[in-house]
Amino acid sequence: MSIFVTDGVCQRTLNRLLEGCQIIGRDYRYLYVNDALARQSHRAKHELVGRTMMEMYPGIEETPLFESIRNVMKGGPPEHFDNAFEFPDGTSGWFELSIQAVPDGVCILSIDITERVRMQQLSHRQQRLESLGTLASGVAHDLNNALAPILLSIGLLKDLGGADDDLLTSVDESASRAARLVRQLLTFSKGTDGARELLTADSLVREIERLVGRTFPKSIRARYHVTDDLPQIVGDATQLQQVLVNLCINARDAMPAGGVLSVEATLTHVDATLASRVLDGRPGGFVTFSVCDTGVGIPPEVVDRIFEPFFTTKGPETGTGLGLSTSLGIIRSHRGFVHVQSEVGRGSMFRVFLPAVPRPQFRAATESDAMQ
Ligand SMILES: Nc1ncnc2c1ncn2[C@@H]1O[C@H](COP(=O)(O)OP(=O)(O)OP(=O)(O)O)[C@@H](O)[C@H]1O
Ligand SMILES: [Mg+2]
Repeated sequence: MSIFVTDGVCQRTLNRLLEGCQIIGRDYRYLYVNDALARQSHRAKHELVGRTMMEMYPGIEETPLFESIRNVMKGGPPEHFDNAFEFPDGTSGWFELSIQAVPDGVCILSIDITERVRMQQLSHRQQRLESLGTLASGVAHDLNNALAPILLSIGLLKDLGGADDDLLTSVDESASRAARLVRQLLTFSKGTDGARELLTADSLVREIERLVGRTFPKSIRARYHVTDDLPQIVGDATQLQQVLVNLCINARDAMPAGGVLSVEATLTHVDATLASRVLDGRPGGFVTFSVCDTGVGIPPEVVDRIFEPFFTTKGPETGTGLGLSTSLGIIRSHRGFVHVQSEVGRGSMFRVFLPAVPRPQFRAATESDAMQ
């Protein structure tokens, strides 16, 4: 019995594959793409077929991906690797690729592993922060023990008199600074207690507006917006202000030649997808404070480290690298989380999500639902 496989069967099968499939001709022209590849490349099939890779993705000749395709095209062995791809619209994705020679050029099979890679990066970041937290907590505890007698003795020496006042003041200042650093480290590693009061986003943003207005250079234009009728949040006003101040100061530092700082508060319904992409993320209703700047931006390899204690790209005179790690400790203590988006040369957006207090009518609805 002979089996006939028609072109139609092949087409239908290839289009049903989860893997993207593309056949690239010897002149690097797309000869064939299946449905999955069109989805993966954010392009319609007719936009790709007949065009060269260089036309579709200018600059691709310089990438390691193209180098591999060229090698296989020249008769090299098949290649199999994971590749990060930057799309012309600025988005990026991760693909597992198999490149092999076929009679008309090369065939590339691709699996979209963006979500898996994101999850791995997130869990790697989480583990790093956890081990840093353990380390920070141990160091802070020992330093605390070492500092306590110093701080106590300074007080006693002052009371006794006779010691050089300038010397004592200088020792006092250094020891107090060390104590402040230890407190910040502890906030990062263990979180922080504090008041738990009902707060409005409006009052927090107004306070920031006053502070920025008084202290920031005029080359930075600041904008503020708070959505009307926002639910309240529960927390410690001083600590949450400290978070917003840290973010605004970072924004200021990122715009040495001036720019736009915007501080906003809105209500966000976080769905499971967004929650899974953010460290500590979870679904629900959150009051979101966003602090955006039009500054230098943060390179992707730096973004991964910015919440680590003592990580700073500023000189030792300017930054301690504790601003964001302390802020993270405070946000976590408020059962919130923080999301960062940044592009080098365009600016950054830090969004702090704090649980929204359900309004009374919502609570009533939930309670009566539960009783049914
Ligand atoms: N808005 C931003 N734009 C560009 N880079 C930023 C921004 N916010 C943070 N960063 C980067 O993250 C690093 C860590 O920030 P963090 O606030 O923890 O420390 P710091 O600002 O360097 O020092 P400190 O806040 O202790 O004075 C900064 O050094 C900077 O490289
Ligand atoms: Mg800072």
